[in-house]
Amino acid sequence: MTRLIEPVRTAPAVARSGGVRSRVGWTFVLLTAVAIVAFSAVPYFSASLAELAEREVGLAPTYAQAHPLVQGALYAHIAGGAVALLAGPLQFWRGLRARLPRLHRWTGRVYLVGVGIGGVAGLVIAPSSPAGYVGLFGFGALGVLWLITGWRAYRAIRRGDVPSHRAWMIRNYALTYAAVTLRLWLPVLLLAPLALGLPWEFDAAFADAYAAVPFLSWLPNLVVAEWLIRRRGLPSYRLPA
Ligand code: HEM
Repeated sequence: MTRLIEPVRTAPAVARSGGVRSRVGWTFVLLTAVAIVAFSAVPYFSASLAELAEREVGLAPTYAQAHPLVQGALYAHIAGGAVALLAGPLQFWRGLRARLPRLHRWTGRVYLVGVGIGGVAGLVIAPSSPAGYVGLFGFGALGVLWLITGWRAYRAIRRGDVPSHRAWMIRNYALTYAAVTLRLWLPVLLLAPLALGLPWEFDAAFADAYAAVPFLSWLPNLVVAEWLIRRRGLPSYRLPA
């Protein structure tokens, strides 16, 4: 399968009406990113994994028994991912880009270092996922695409290709945002059988839900990213006829 990259034009009216929606969307993304870092990432740095495992915090029960290398990778992953999740929205803030381009460049570097550390460490911990092969391949593919799209965004800006840089950064942050969408999908999938009047038991429902999120957390995000890229008239993926 080959691919062509070509720009897609948008009408000025679409751009105008998109202004308010973009601001609302950006604020939503920022607030949800802050909330996930506060409630999912920060607790890992508040006590040892063994203590967190006793209190059944997040995936601590799984990783408290893991090899020290995997435990170290878990911490590196959470720290790198949290930095990327928080720095990302700043990079999409048009006013900041225009007024303080140097700050944009520096936070961009910090963002990409976060992606690099978080991505490599994510690949180290993926084989330990309680979701088994689905976790390995789902999170593994996410990690590989996270690193590749970050690299493409960096290469594009180094050669001065701003539209491609913006498009790759939108794809890259859509993948970073998987940390949020995963945690939005989980309660929905967990409670869906109850809403449908099906028999329900917590452990089984959680295992079912967790088997879906290694892919569901990021595949729809990439579709939304491509839609945003086209709406902004940036270089979009096109499959040949
Ligand atoms: C986008 C690429 C990412 C990949 C490939 C990835 C991969 C993983 C993997 C494999 C795990 C272990 C899951 C398991 O054992 O089932 C994990 C856990 C975790 N990740 Fe990520 N992750 C990504 C992004 C992020 C980001 C941006 C954050 C920022 C907060 C983050 C925070 C966490 C946390 C806090 C955990 C521990 C699990 C929990 O308690 O919910 N990840 N990640």
